[in-house]
Amino acid sequence: MKFVMFTAAVVAGSKPEQIHIALGPSPTSMAVQWSQETTSLTKVKYGPTADKLEWTADTAVYPFTDGGSEKHLNTHHVARMTSLSPSEEYFYKVGNKADGWSDVFSFSAAPTQETIKFPVRFGIWGDMGIANASAILSEVTDVIENGKSFDMILHVGDFAYNMDNDNGHLGDHFMNDIQHIATKIPYMVDVGNHEVAYGFSHYTERFRLIGDSFAPRDYPTVSSSDGDGFNNWFYSHDYANVHFVAISTEIYFNYADTDLLKNQYDFIDADLKLVDRAKTPWVVVHGHRPCYCSCDDDCGDDAALTREGVDGKFGLEELLHKHNVDLYIAGHEHNYERMFDVYKNETTKTTTNPKETIHIITGDAGGPEGHEVFTLAQPERTAFRTDGFGYSEMTVYNDTHLHWQQFQGEDKNDKMFGNAAVIDQFWLVNENH
Ligand SMILES: [Fe+2]
Repeated sequence: MKFVMFTAAVVAGSKPEQIHIALGPSPTSMAVQWSQETTSLTKVKYGPTADKLEWTADTAVYPFTDGGSEKHLNTHHVARMTSLSPSEEYFYKVGNKADGWSDVFSFSAAPTQETIKFPVRFGIWGDMGIANASAILSEVTDVIENGKSFDMILHVGDFAYNMDNDNGHLGDHFMNDIQHIATKIPYMVDVGNHEVAYGFSHYTERFRLIGDSFAPRDYPTVSSSDGDGFNNWFYSHDYANVHFVAISTEIYFNYADTDLLKNQYDFIDADLKLVDRAKTPWVVVHGHRPCYCSCDDDCGDDAALTREGVDGKFGLEELLHKHNVDLYIAGHEHNYERMFDVYKNETTKTTTNPKETIHIITGDAGGPEGHEVFTLAQPERTAFRTDGFGYSEMTVYNDTHLHWQQFQGEDKNDKMFGNAAVIDQFWLVNENH
């Protein structure tokens, strides 16, 4: 008789990590995503106080295997907290009893028009890695923990440098680095060129909560080497009196000959057409690459491709113009460049009731590539530019007044901020939108 001995493979579970939240499709919901190796069911428990996590939401589970030789696995769990009261504070933890719960975190649900408490603050940065990013992260952590906080974070592409490096472990590292911020404040994103590996799968999978949250709106799926995902490449949402449209400028460079370029263009056009400016007078479009810049070679054909499209078709600038978009925010250039109103390279150099879109590049949150210096003459359209580690703060005071500030260390190469100062600021006044 032949005996076969089976040894049960003991799969060690793990505690939740890489936890982050993102806005849901309405102020009554908030999505959460984390990574946890477990064979047991997981959930999010949430409620009005830290010791009263009385509601539960189950998760959708998405195993994600990095494309590198190690086949590093992250099992992502996505859940949506629903039936929230706008602007109210909530507490939550994620995980399960078998493998462990996370700490308890808190966030504020997004406001409705009736519950907005002005001013509303947005922390905005792009191109944040791990090397050189500690400056921004420690500064922002200080800002958040000592007094004023942000209502929403916007990271305009290029994460970790790169999330797929070291068989994807660098992506894990980065997501854990931002966890203390991203568990409290909705961390909204768009995709950059540094996410290109494996069909942008690290972006698609690590930010599934955004596509998942917006899935009921029937957006098309996107494909990566790891399969189809809900679309988090181009999507829109409101926060307070601002309508945000996230786009993938990478589509111009990697999918220019596919239907995806037209799909995104049609989506932006249709979405902006439906904006109710009485409800959300401010309209912000954000993507990773700029339409205009003035630092180096990127500012020639590459910027023109985003701006004017492929063979003159599906260009972004025409949409910004057609729909009176207030701001186009980008990164990619590792510097800060604030422009006036721009259309077809012309400017009236105004920030009061501008007829065209104001363009801002805020791509110097810090990464291993360092700064991108300005090698070209400062154009007429540019109001201010600097290369130094920094981040932006957009503060909306009401339907007509918006204040923008750029923070930078005293020394532009100062890696240990602690004393970031406002290096540029302006008021955007728009009584017409
Ligand atoms: Fe980039």
